[in-house]
Amino acid sequence: MRWTVLKVAACVGAAFIVYYIKKRCGGPLCRCVLRLDEKVVIITGGTSGLGLAVAEQLANRGAIIIFTARDLDKGLAIQESLRERTKNPKIFCEYLDLNNFVSIHQFVSRVNQKCSKVDLLINNAGVFFHPPKETVDKFDVTFQTNYLGHFLLTELLLPVLADQSRVIFLSSAAHSLTQSLDLKSACIFDEGATGTSARFQSYAKAKLCLLLYSKTFAQRYKDRGIRAYSVDPGSVETPMYRHFPFLTNPILKAIQKPIRFIVVRSPFQGAQTVLHCALSPKLGSETGLYYADLETKTPSILSQDIQLSSQLYDYSRVWAGLSDFEKSKSA
Ligand SMILES: NC(=O)c1ccc[n+]([C@@H]2O[C@H](COP(=O)([O-])OP(=O)(O)OC[C@H]3O[C@@H](n4cnc5c(N)ncnc54)[C@H](OP(=O)(O)O)[C@@H]3O)[C@@H](O)[C@H]2O)c1
Repeated sequence: MRWTVLKVAACVGAAFIVYYIKKRCGGPLCRCVLRLDEKVVIITGGTSGLGLAVAEQLANRGAIIIFTARDLDKGLAIQESLRERTKNPKIFCEYLDLNNFVSIHQFVSRVNQKCSKVDLLINNAGVFFHPPKETVDKFDVTFQTNYLGHFLLTELLLPVLADQSRVIFLSSAAHSLTQSLDLKSACIFDEGATGTSARFQSYAKAKLCLLLYSKTFAQRYKDRGIRAYSVDPGSVETPMYRHFPFLTNPILKAIQKPIRFIVVRSPFQGAQTVLHCALSPKLGSETGLYYADLETKTPSILSQDIQLSSQLYDYSRVWAGLSDFEKSKSA
């Protein structure tokens, strides 16, 4: 009898500890109740993980959602299911492949035809630990998906971004793994970068570039009241880890499962800081800062280098063909 009581007490204690750790690791919740009726929101990569979770939460607040998909059939099925779940008919899926500049230009043209202003742009799409692969534009997939594609998209959307709009960049704590950035070689595709360290570095470099770009972007457009936020969502259980060997090997995956269940966030939990930056009136005129767990955090020293940020901006315009595009428009 005594043993049974002790066993029950131990089980209850263990369950409480697991619950407590899971709650702590999940991070704080965004309590903002603001509605976004008639506000237009663009979310890149809304077909899974964080993008999908954010789309659902913002659709629940009445926003007009344009989310992007690389597989339009998959995207349209998600569009229907989101409309049903949120009772919001104003959810639209659009095709976008960030690894193709033509696709980005075409997406922006369709946005310009459909809406006169965009209130919130969430640059969410990304890949992690992807094997080196050259895009049609001659960059590495990791660099273009995470950074350069979003750079071009954001610059092209500028005319339609409303004054007082917000732009959110999905960054990562991994940005701090990059200790230096040589702009002359940053965009060069290296098919030999297949090792674990090289793949981490590719991701870290892309996320560092995103952070650096957010700095220059914030300064350039603050007079229009456009605010930029970079977000680290924490470690979140999503398909992003599909290329990560420790999580694709079925045995290693099974061993890690119980621990990951406790310490890794759900997409809903990971979405909270994005929602905070999208919704909170408390952020006022803050712009160009880095957020995690609903608070500003100090990113790496390199990511705060204003001169590097401005140089990266100039290089990125060339890489993304923006100077040529503007010349051809004015000719
Ligand atoms: N999960 C984490 O632990 C974590 C941690 C730190 C930062 N982040 C960042 O959070 C963001 C969202 O990641 P997630 O975890 O939600 O990953 P995810 O579930 O894999 O979602 C990534 C999204 O990006 C889309 N995408 C990939 N390549 C694309 C391309 N070339 N063009 C357009 N869309 C593309 C994917 O579309 P498909 O469905 O077609 O593949 C998908 O919708 C990423 O920027 C990631 O770096 C995640």
